[in-house]
Amino acid sequence: MNRKMLFNSSLLLILSFFLSKALAQSAAPALSPGPPPSTDIYKILTKAGQFTVLIRLLKSTQVGNQINNQLGSSNSELTVFAPTDNAFSSLKTGTLNGLSDQQKVQLLQFHLVPSFISITNFQTMSNPVQTQASDTYEYPLNITTSGNQVNITTGIVNTTISGTVYSDNQLAVYQVDKVLQPLGIFAPRPLPPAPAPAPPKPKKKATDTESSGPTTSDDSSDAIGVTGNLGMVVLSMSMFAAGIFNL
Ligand SMILES: *[C@@H]1O[C@H](CO)[C@@H](O)[C@H](O)[C@H]1NC(C)=O
Ligand SMILES: *[C@@H]1O[C@H](CO)[C@@H](O)[C@H](O)[C@H]1NC(C)=O
Ligand SMILES: *[C@@H]1O[C@H](CO)[C@@H](O)[C@H](O)[C@H]1NC(C)=O
Repeated sequence: MNRKMLFNSSLLLILSFFLSKALAQSAAPALSPGPPPSTDIYKILTKAGQFTVLIRLLKSTQVGNQINNQLGSSNSELTVFAPTDNAFSSLKTGTLNGLSDQQKVQLLQFHLVPSFISITNFQTMSNPVQTQASDTYEYPLNITTSGNQVNITTGIVNTTISGTVYSDNQLAVYQVDKVLQPLGIFAPRPLPPAPAPAPPKPKKKATDTESSGPTTSDDSSDAIGVTGNLGMVVLSMSMFAAGIFNL
């Protein structure tokens, strides 16, 4: 009797466990009950006013939707630097229209940092800051503080944070009075020369001595020496690129 009761109750326990799991799973996407309704960047910016150009760009590029999707997953964090309408209108005429769709996306991604930075966190940031745009070589963003002031520089534009538009523990939106123009779009830097920093050097030396040997013998081996060097250049370039993208 006791055994049977025990068996029944544990069966019930197991069943109710799976039932509650199933219920939770089926309820979550449809009703999203537990967590507060997910944050909507469009609503936040619309409510704040003076961000109509930014909102338009976020919509036309779909980056705003990406942001909202990102915010929909509970453990993702984001900091947005939001240029005002004045910031956009003080750009040189035609600046935005001169950008390709891809560049517009990159420009917006450059205004996003994939972590939540509270206003006091800026004091402890290391530069360059990794934004959601490409890499920090082509898209460097430096943030420094002096007192309460938070300075932002891109290498083209210097500005400061002029206000907090929104902040919870997941998303921070800061007003900036200039569009953060990245070097990668507005003043592309030449890629660094192929013989990259320190690491690849010893290897290169080895091939130099290798290729200098056969060169003296005849024409055909001379050609081999040249292609050998070219290979090294390509190799060190790609090693350098790999280095950048690991940052
Ligand atoms: C921040 O920018 C202001 C000018 O807007 C400048 O006076 C100040 O020295 C800058 N501080 C830092 C730490 O870059
Ligand atoms: C950003 O900071 C890095 C590291 O301190 C520095 O090397 C770079 O020159 C800075 N760039 C700008 C545009 O201030
Ligand atoms: C930005 O600030 C740096 C030093 O803080 C200065 O060298 C540079 O000229 C400034 N750039 C602009 C566009 O004001």
